[in-house]
Amino acid sequence: MKLAVAGKGGAGKTTFCATAGRLLARRGHRVVAIDADTNPNLHAAIGLGDAVALPPFLPASLVSRRLDGPRLAVSIDEVLHDYAATAPDGVQVMRMGVPEHPDEGCLCSAHATVSAVMAELGAEPGIVTVLDLEASPEHLSRGTARDADLLVLIAEPYFRSLEAVRLQASLAAESSIGRTVVVANKCRTDSDRAAIVEFCDRNGLDLVGMLPWSDNALDADAATQPLLDHAADDPMVDAIGAALDEAGLPALLGGDD
Ligand SMILES: Nc1ncnc2c1ncn2[C@@H]1O[C@H](COP(=O)(O)OP(=O)(O)O)[C@@H](O)[C@H]1O
Ligand SMILES: [Mg+2]
Repeated sequence: MKLAVAGKGGAGKTTFCATAGRLLARRGHRVVAIDADTNPNLHAAIGLGDAVALPPFLPASLVSRRLDGPRLAVSIDEVLHDYAATAPDGVQVMRMGVPEHPDEGCLCSAHATVSAVMAELGAEPGIVTVLDLEASPEHLSRGTARDADLLVLIAEPYFRSLEAVRLQASLAAESSIGRTVVVANKCRTDSDRAAIVEFCDRNGLDLVGMLPWSDNALDADAATQPLLDHAADDPMVDAIGAALDEAGLPALLGGDD
């Protein structure tokens, strides 16, 4: 089962992925979280502390490009062994390759590597893959998330964030992604909530959750700590769990939670 998370920069994608990944692990699932942002920071949000070496970036050499798309040249078990680090609750974390030099050109091969890893993980029964995407809609045009069963678009209650989500939802609708849902984040007021509901209704977007504004999320970030470790009882944590349920995760996972 593959869950991809996208939305505008700063909307809360990484906070959502880190928290959702660990909540799913606590529900008994084997979770692999992939940081597919070229500005990687999922490792900090999920709790790969200083005691754990950061996983090496996934190299493009793992993949052979074929006519029918990129394929892993080695087994997924080898990839996990060599390129995953274990975060709290047993979540395995991997990181997409990042630019190493200025002017080195496009990152197609880094995206193709993640796409191939996702495809293999999806074929493994019992693994939930959580993919933390970057803000640009490029991951949709490049097909990085093409095999996702569920795409969660995180939206803040202001027009530019909602417009970014609308664009990504329309691209996703033309792709092979299973289902696309919207989760609103940083909702402070009734008018925030009403604006999101109205926007989603008007654009046919499937709103499955509203996460409240959380001072704890900001404080956790400042302390380089996961929200779950900083303030496990923060209402945002429960709201993320509820959004996963509303998005149909239990059914996608075989109804066993
Ligand atoms: N519900 C929330 N309330 C307040 N701040 C939040 C909330 N969700 C996330 N944040 C903060 O917003 C900033 C961006 O969040 P992040 O998850 O890194 O976004 P993205 O991955 O979309 O760029 C971080 O400082 C994070 O702590
Ligand atoms: Mg992020």
